[in-house]
Amino acid sequence: MKIAVAGTGYVGLVTGACLASKGHSVVCVDVDENKIKRLRAGDPVIFEKGLGELLQECAQAGTLSFTTDFRSAYKDANAILIGVGTPDKKDGSVNLSYINSVADQIAESVEQDCLLIIKSTVPIGTSDRIEARITSALKHPVKVELASNPEFLAQGSAVENTLHPNRIILGVKSDFAEKVLREIYSDFDAPVIVVKRHSAEMIKYASNDFLALKISYVNEIANLCEITGADIDEVTKGMGLDPRIGKSFLKAGTGYGGSCFPKDTKALHWLSNIHGHELKTVRAAIDVNESQKLVLIKKAHGFYENFKDVNIAVLGLTFKPGTDDLRESPSLSCIPYLLDDEAKIKAWDPVGEENFRKIYPSEITYCQTIGETLDGADICFIFTEWLEIVNMDVSEFTKRMKRPLILDGRNCFELKNMRGKGATYISIGRAAIKG
Ligand SMILES: NC(=O)c1ccc[n+]([C@@H]2O[C@H](COP(=O)([O-])OP(=O)(O)OC[C@H]3O[C@@H](n4cnc5c(N)ncnc54)[C@H](O)[C@@H]3O)[C@@H](O)[C@H]2O)c1
Repeated sequence: MKIAVAGTGYVGLVTGACLASKGHSVVCVDVDENKIKRLRAGDPVIFEKGLGELLQECAQAGTLSFTTDFRSAYKDANAILIGVGTPDKKDGSVNLSYINSVADQIAESVEQDCLLIIKSTVPIGTSDRIEARITSALKHPVKVELASNPEFLAQGSAVENTLHPNRIILGVKSDFAEKVLREIYSDFDAPVIVVKRHSAEMIKYASNDFLALKISYVNEIANLCEITGADIDEVTKGMGLDPRIGKSFLKAGTGYGGSCFPKDTKALHWLSNIHGHELKTVRAAIDVNESQKLVLIKKAHGFYENFKDVNIAVLGLTFKPGTDDLRESPSLSCIPYLLDDEAKIKAWDPVGEENFRKIYPSEITYCQTIGETLDGADICFIFTEWLEIVNMDVSEFTKRMKRPLILDGRNCFELKNMRGKGATYISIGRAAIKG
């Protein structure tokens, strides 16, 4: 099938490449000329496991191309997937300007009947509104219909999740839309759920917000564990064996980040409010997360009144391992605070440095190794559980740091491995180890 994909971000690019690898003829469109230039040259632009190889495979097969020329890409596509960003506005509502602008470009370009498929996360009712917007602005006498096909990939395992999804949600209003979508996914082995468009849009928010709630709940329990002398790792082990609860998303830490949970919780909360039906559980998840992002700073204040001239090592900048994405990362909540206090910061991240440099080009010293980052440090903050950190030799902390105080926001190390090492080790929801 001839497919155009609008947006070459984490969703659009990975989806485009995966569909092309299944033999569809895919053209990915973006307004960012530099991105398209790099993609054409074989540079995956974003860091995602397996993406580079997949792009190479598709380039050799000739099934995937990239362009900024949306007219040529959209005019004769059988299906157009929309994967542009839907960031939050200040009030928590969704900024639909990118979706609206793609809709206008599609209306002006399509020259044959086609199905438009929204993969972006959008408020309930958006498919209806975009369909009406496009239909009223069509330049050629063709029929377009909207479908909602939310995306559930997780950054860090986006290619694997897209090739092997745990479910495919088809939000449709006609047999035609279902038929086109089933053809697109004919080579994917996953349960297909056909629902109405509003339900598909809600499934995405309800799923993400549930996971955010689960994380915030565990983080609150972890904080209570610290006060009461329980250990969150033991508690979640005991909880997770209950199949009604499950083991995933039970890891305590310094809060969720990324491009999805923070904005999707705010969006659903905003939407519930305007319908006069506030989702109080979601509000609680948002509030808990906001304060959890600063929990390491609060813990550090137990040792330092302020951080002026304190040497700080930061291990991990991205919101989770496996991605170069910094959006809403806890590191971005804490580092400005430390900089305001005139701390001296050295940081290490295996892939996040380039993006972090765009925000802090000179305020931070970027290091190539964990060891170099720790040299002479008074405090070490851990924001991301990169494997390089989890597997490091923990004696490095005492060997290299001046006054080893480790504030681990991701519980990277087992307590038994941190005892007797001469370092003060503070993690989340577990006993503090005094050095
Ligand atoms: N990132 C994730 O893990 C993830 C997972 C599931 C769903 N989603 C949802 O998918 C959507 C996209 O997220 P993302 O992280 O891939 O976004 P992103 O910010 O990484 O990428 C969006 C891309 O769209 C491009 N764009 C903007 N306007 C355009 C236009 N008119 N035509 C073509 N391209 C245009 C931008 O230049 C950018 O490259 C969001 O709604 C998000 O909530 C994201």
